[in-house]
Amino acid sequence: MSKLEVRTIAWELDGVPFLWNPDHPRFAILMNQISFLVIGFERYICRATRKAEEQITDPKVAVESELFRKQEAVHSAAHKKHVKALIKQYPGLESTLAKVLQTYDELYDAHPLKFALAHSGGLEAIFTPFFKMILDNRAVLFGGGDPRVASLFLWHFCEEIEHRSAALAIYNHIVGDYGYRLRNTRRFMKFSVSLINMLLEDFKTHVPDVPESCYKGDPFAGVPLSAKLRSSFGIFASQVPWHNPEHQPLPDYYQEWLGHWNNGDDVRRLYGDAGLLPKPAVATG
Ligand SMILES: [Fe+2]
Ligand SMILES: [Fe+2]
Repeated sequence: MSKLEVRTIAWELDGVPFLWNPDHPRFAILMNQISFLVIGFERYICRATRKAEEQITDPKVAVESELFRKQEAVHSAAHKKHVKALIKQYPGLESTLAKVLQTYDELYDAHPLKFALAHSGGLEAIFTPFFKMILDNRAVLFGGGDPRVASLFLWHFCEEIEHRSAALAIYNHIVGDYGYRLRNTRRFMKFSVSLINMLLEDFKTHVPDVPESCYKGDPFAGVPLSAKLRSSFGIFASQVPWHNPEHQPLPDYYQEWLGHWNNGDDVRRLYGDAGLLPKPAVATG
């Protein structure tokens, strides 16, 4: 039995500010970059995984694959809501989203299925050590932010931790060629970095009221060096052939978030500075 749960949440993101964390604008912008990127990346994963499912013969992998794909589809839709809220305020960003989607569609069409599965398996393995650093340091990164946006990312990163083994299991089941995945790892990384850089440049063009200084500096300023080094080492270790994402150290926050979810708490506004939420309209008359 797979432990994955598909959670559809009615996010309320209309009107959220571009600089949703005034205490950490560079991190806020990085998360905005990630929101745009994941719409394309997760749609790309869903296309590849759906195709792969035609070839999966192990029932356990088949169940995991379907739930993983559904989680990613829900993530992509949630980030689209966030991005659409930003586009409403800065209409030039519509072309940025179109560029991201087109880039992933072209990548999908240009390569065999095993390329997309290796891409998905390789990057998804990186996410656990990377998101652990972010979740462990949520106070400094998300604490001063708008809870509507902060809570969206915390939910997504927790579910990435939850399905950390799925993409690699699919790759190993269908393709299983470690050398092929390793040979292409740098290419996958370069592809994501070039899109992240493109997004930053597009933001500078289409979001003119953000001071240039907000685009500079370390997005992870305030995170202890030891946590950054541990995360970098984890990312490197995630690409070795014997790596098993199941055995990764997990952030405590994953269990904490799950507790909130199982309690029925409002996970749409779980974390951040409640003072930044819009004030409820006062009835007059
Ligand atoms: Fe995701
Ligand atoms: Fe994922």
